[in-house]
Amino acid sequence: MKTKIIVTGGCGYIGSHTAIELIENDFDVVILDDLSNSTEKTISRIHKITGVTPTFVQVDLKDPVATFKVFETHKDAAGVIHFAAHKAVGESVQKPLMYYKNNFYSLLNTLEAQSVHGINNFIFSSSATVYGTPNTLPITENNETQRPFSPYGNTKKIAEEILDDFTKSNKSFSAISLRYFNPIGAHESGAIGELPNGIPNNLMPYITQTAAGVREKLMVYGNDYPTKDGTPIRDYIHVVDLAKAHVIAIKRLLNNKQETPLEFFNLGTGLGYSVLDVIKSFESVTNSKLNYEITERRDGDVPQLYASTDLAKEKLGWSADRKLNDMISSSWNWEQNLRSETK
Ligand code: WQD
Repeated sequence: MKTKIIVTGGCGYIGSHTAIELIENDFDVVILDDLSNSTEKTISRIHKITGVTPTFVQVDLKDPVATFKVFETHKDAAGVIHFAAHKAVGESVQKPLMYYKNNFYSLLNTLEAQSVHGINNFIFSSSATVYGTPNTLPITENNETQRPFSPYGNTKKIAEEILDDFTKSNKSFSAISLRYFNPIGAHESGAIGELPNGIPNNLMPYITQTAAGVREKLMVYGNDYPTKDGTPIRDYIHVVDLAKAHVIAIKRLLNNKQETPLEFFNLGTGLGYSVLDVIKSFESVTNSKLNYEITERRDGDVPQLYASTDLAKEKLGWSADRKLNDMISSSWNWEQNLRSETK
């Protein structure tokens, strides 16, 4: 019998890549997704890549009755990897209540429904945004968390606090919170990748859409930051490396290897690249010129963010293998496949 893992938000960007890695590690995967920002086509794409069709249930985890029902059906699961959440920073500033409602109701219903059935292992999809504007770099897990700039970011920080309280109150329950830096890239097959809804907020999909002719020009938000070329520095990480870390994290809980009931790990490469570095690498990988213009700073952007990767290396035995060029070429490959599909 294979070990069953429930992946909420499994039709989304990081969730779908994680579902593939779980299947390739011989887990039985159940995907729960409301398809609010994803497509059911992801299920057949996962089949195309792995030869396995994961169980899929379309469910709104904000709805407690529906959530309890689906966990009753899958009460033999051993753990949950929780991706389901809204994630657009700008939208969350416009619609904070929608973000708090969606991200917390779904988290609380999931925790309640799973623990009723003794499904006591939980991986949480968190973000480096919980560090706010860090005073020291690289960022270690011991850096203090700060109230993030956006309601979206704040849902990640408060969710970690909820997990802290819950793991203290429920001694059988263990959780790992994975704090992602800047996930980009796509599966090497070119069959799955990020599907931004409308105009992308993030740098990489904006670059690939500009190169594909969907957007006219990339706006570079500021070149007067205290960095080597004036543009902000981030720690970009390949989504497949990120997905692999989730498999290691869930195995750690299943094997009772956690050292505290709630653990935190940074997931990054430890390398910082500026916006202009990314543009230059894109131009060299794709042998093309990108149309871009320097414009005003964007509210809430911090000058530099990159991870210390020591803890993940030491405790999870995980580190990122894929380089910036791999991230860029796989993002570009995916973008081109998407365009030929929509033609
Ligand atoms: C990277 C750099 C921009 C777009 C966000 C969230 C974080 C996490 C990942 C996700 C910045 C610059 C961007 C553009 C630009 N969450 N940029 N022109 O802001 O580091 O992190 O995504 O779910 O919580 O905050 O990533 O890709 O938006 O920006 O110049 O059109 O690219 O100013 O310096 P960010 P990003």
